[in-house]
Amino acid sequence: MSALQRKAGALHLEGVALEDVARRFGTPCYVYSRSMVEAAFREFDEGLAGVDHLVCYAVKANSNLAILDVLRRMGAGFDIVSGGELARVLAAGADAGRVLFSGVGKSEAEIRTALAARIHCFNVESEPELERLDALAGALGVKAPISLRVNPDVDAKTHPYISTGLAGNKFGIPYGSALEVYRRAAKLRNLEVHGIDCHIGSQILEAAPLEEAVDRVLALADAVQAAGIRLKHVDFGGGFGIRYRDEATIDVAAYTRTLAARMQGRGLKVLLEPGRYIVGNAGVLLTRVEYLKVDKAKRFAVVDASMSELIRPMLYDAWHEIVPVTQSARGEALAYDIVGPICESTDVLGTGRSLAIAGGDLLAILSAGAYAMAMASNYNTRPRPAEVLVDGDKAYEIRSRERVESLFADERTLDAAMKP
Ligand code: LLP
Repeated sequence: MSALQRKAGALHLEGVALEDVARRFGTPCYVYSRSMVEAAFREFDEGLAGVDHLVCYAVKANSNLAILDVLRRMGAGFDIVSGGELARVLAAGADAGRVLFSGVGKSEAEIRTALAARIHCFNVESEPELERLDALAGALGVKAPISLRVNPDVDAKTHPYISTGLAGNKFGIPYGSALEVYRRAAKLRNLEVHGIDCHIGSQILEAAPLEEAVDRVLALADAVQAAGIRLKHVDFGGGFGIRYRDEATIDVAAYTRTLAARMQGRGLKVLLEPGRYIVGNAGVLLTRVEYLKVDKAKRFAVVDASMSELIRPMLYDAWHEIVPVTQSARGEALAYDIVGPICESTDVLGTGRSLAIAGGDLLAILSAGAYAMAMASNYNTRPRPAEVLVDGDKAYEIRSRERVESLFADERTLDAAMKP
């Protein structure tokens, strides 16, 4: 159930009025619901209860320390893709032994740090990466736990920009050569083969492609084990889609229960890497209307949020619902393009939205918990917004609004740069 509800016309997240959050912390501002994050995590964790498992939250979706902390307390593991994300999860108190390291471009420094931290597993994406890992583990005198990310060549039927499991994609090791690469990996002295991994894309709305990937990964697991290479786990990735508008989504509780039943008796631990599903619907972006600008051809609501806070609409043509925080009986609804202050025509958060609004009104952009703040930039020297976590009737600031001076604190004028 959504914790986002109207009470006497005023939009609340859990027990907190969003108008109060905006007054206290300013706008634009991201607000997240702790209970919604926990409920979404539980769907995976409880669904897999019948089998040995670890749900590794994909940190890239929303990497705020408080969000990581909420999930850590629930027993989550973490899927990271950079040394920066490793530093974050450790700063949030996570056990390195529950961390997976994914990504196609792990640097030597990142690998060394992750080896020294003794992470759970490296999801290796290429043969050169295997060699680099073997050499670095050897130099440190440790064994690197590895899993190969295979590309199962399954069409996730999602936006091409976020589809990752098709042949010809930069991700993973081609399915057809995976067995051979496993044989090689098993011979490298400083590696220890632990598992198989795949991830076919994001915002997936149908269970069929995910199930097809499971079939292919399990067939490969059988072949690898038949070749005498023992596996400890299989990682089926993330990708579970959420409702932004009116999409029918995968029933995660049912899906994971079926998966657990299927994995029963195989002696393989099940890993998942969901990101968006855990945090996506748990967050909103609050923004105030600066001006209503009426043109012959169009009506614009110019708001104080922009593509620098939320790039998804411009980058993927993504649709985020936009609603007034306080429902006033004022006037009839008119169609507005909701645009930000950035000097780009693509700085649009929503088009043709029917709203009864006036200058100064507060709007909430929904389903903004995933790939939102995490992808925010400082374009136009805009400080990134504050983030707030709501827990019952309390609201906690979990990140302060950036200060303008900190945006150029690492820069120098020419005079300063030329000083010896
Ligand atoms: N594991 C790996 C290896 C991934 O690359 C990703 C996401 C995930 C797990 C988590 O996927 P999720 O459960 O969140 O779908 N910025 C885009 C989404 C990019 C997803 C990248 N990889 C967006 O805003 O839609």
